[in-house]
Amino acid sequence: MDQQRLDSYQRGTSRDFNEHVLHKTILVGDSGVGKTSLLVQFDQGKFIPGSFSATVGIGFTIWDTAGQERFRSVTHAYYRDAQALLLLYDITNKSSFDNIRAWLTEIHEYAQRDVVIMLLGNKADVSNERVIRSEDGETLAREYGVPFMETSAKTGMNVELAFLAIAKELKYRALWHPDGPRFQIRDFVESQKKQPSCCSFS
Ligand code: GTP
Repeated sequence: MDQQRLDSYQRGTSRDFNEHVLHKTILVGDSGVGKTSLLVQFDQGKFIPGSFSATVGIGFTIWDTAGQERFRSVTHAYYRDAQALLLLYDITNKSSFDNIRAWLTEIHEYAQRDVVIMLLGNKADVSNERVIRSEDGETLAREYGVPFMETSAKTGMNVELAFLAIAKELKYRALWHPDGPRFQIRDFVESQKKQPSCCSFS
């Protein structure tokens, strides 16, 4: 793909983006970080407050996994044929952030080598209970070479962008020759993502 086509692809104005490519994306992270809520926000454009019963996996082309330990063996099977993973922590929950390294270790063990990974710091709307700074998420993501953004399944902030960026990356890989200029998912995310406002309270 030449640079001009790549540019229009990045802007989403390219005809190429209308081709259909099916892929499997799964959401992973500790219990309660908001995986199901994020998926519901993306799918239905709304936030349904309160806990869903712990998720085992729902009938959707994007798979949502349970964060609970007892479902781990089920999760391992999901990893194998996933092309992309949205890895979530909750910015108000330190252990969910600390566990990201363990999730990444597991992902590297069970997922495909070229799986697309994106780190998401969810619940960015709850600024008064924040315990993980945005910079900490950035630093961790940089260490693992993955794109990062903060999201809110409640307000919808960056939710569509997360799925769109994954879809663009996978579609790009499927449709074009690897020797051409590469779609830079991190640059795309950095140019499009919104930052939570510093002083808004949920
Ligand atoms: P498991 O299925 O147990 O793995 O949990 P999960 O990761 O799917 O989390 P779930 O979507 O069930 O959300 C857990 C709780 O956090 C619920 O009470 C949600 O309403 C709440 N929640 C999820 N995302 C957000 C968010 O972005 N902002 C706020 N304020 N609350 C959220």
